[in-house]
Amino acid sequence: MLTHNLIYRKAGIKKPAFFINLHPHNYPYNLFCKANFQQKIIMQLNKAIQNRWSPRAFSDKEVTKEMIDLLFEAARWAPSSMNEQPWKYYFVHRNNQNTFNEVVEILTGTNPVWAQHAQVLIISVVKKNFDYQNRPNKNALHDLGAANVSIAIQAAEMGLQVHQMGGFDKTKAAEYLQLDIENFEPVTAIAVGFQGDADQLPKELKERELQPRKRKKIEEFVYEIAEK
Ligand SMILES: Cc1cc2nc3c(=O)[nH]c(=O)nc-3n(C[C@H](O)[C@H](O)[C@H](O)COP(=O)(O)O)c2cc1C
Repeated sequence: MLTHNLIYRKAGIKKPAFFINLHPHNYPYNLFCKANFQQKIIMQLNKAIQNRWSPRAFSDKEVTKEMIDLLFEAARWAPSSMNEQPWKYYFVHRNNQNTFNEVVEILTGTNPVWAQHAQVLIISVVKKNFDYQNRPNKNALHDLGAANVSIAIQAAEMGLQVHQMGGFDKTKAAEYLQLDIENFEPVTAIAVGFQGDADQLPKELKERELQPRKRKKIEEFVYEIAEK
């Protein structure tokens, strides 16, 4: 039903007024024809893309070493400018409790409240300069983002979810990881785990967790280039 819900929400169909107030993840998506065309398109989307989202509630189901390896294997095959592969990942499993807690402390805002329940925390780091002559790599951030999305899609394929966070103290993270800040910069922290029950979250976070996802319409960001 999770997939159905995401399709329903992605199709931007309003919940019918008489509809029983189910968990938003479980709305049937095909009751009304209004957005049939868009629904049809969405249903053809790659299933992992349909299922990927950024939850705050994580279950205590173990994420194994093999699963972690698979996520980083996905990053490994991401495209990058000049095949530079300008990404580095530092991760800690919650079994390594002290280190895990130290990484949680680097997170800011409400992120530590929910991310402390993830199974694995990752810090993604970009390498700013090309290996070749140490020249600035203008596409490095783009390429790290591509690798991070590969991780997210691979996770969704495995029934896992990841939640990226820009909300962490990057100076502290760089110090903690002993990075050479001339060339390396922490970019996102990433919580990894199986989706948990929204009821385990504090009220405000639970509300956000259950909110329908919003997306721009395709025509707001796609333009066919006209013939000159
Ligand atoms: C670079 C980046 C930084 C983000 N930072 C945070 C964050 O600090 N805290 C948070 O709760 N979510 C964060 N997110 C998650 C976004 O809010 C989320 O991806 C967006 O709302 C779309 O939701 P979805 O991933 O469920 O489709 C971040 C996502 C990205 C890609």
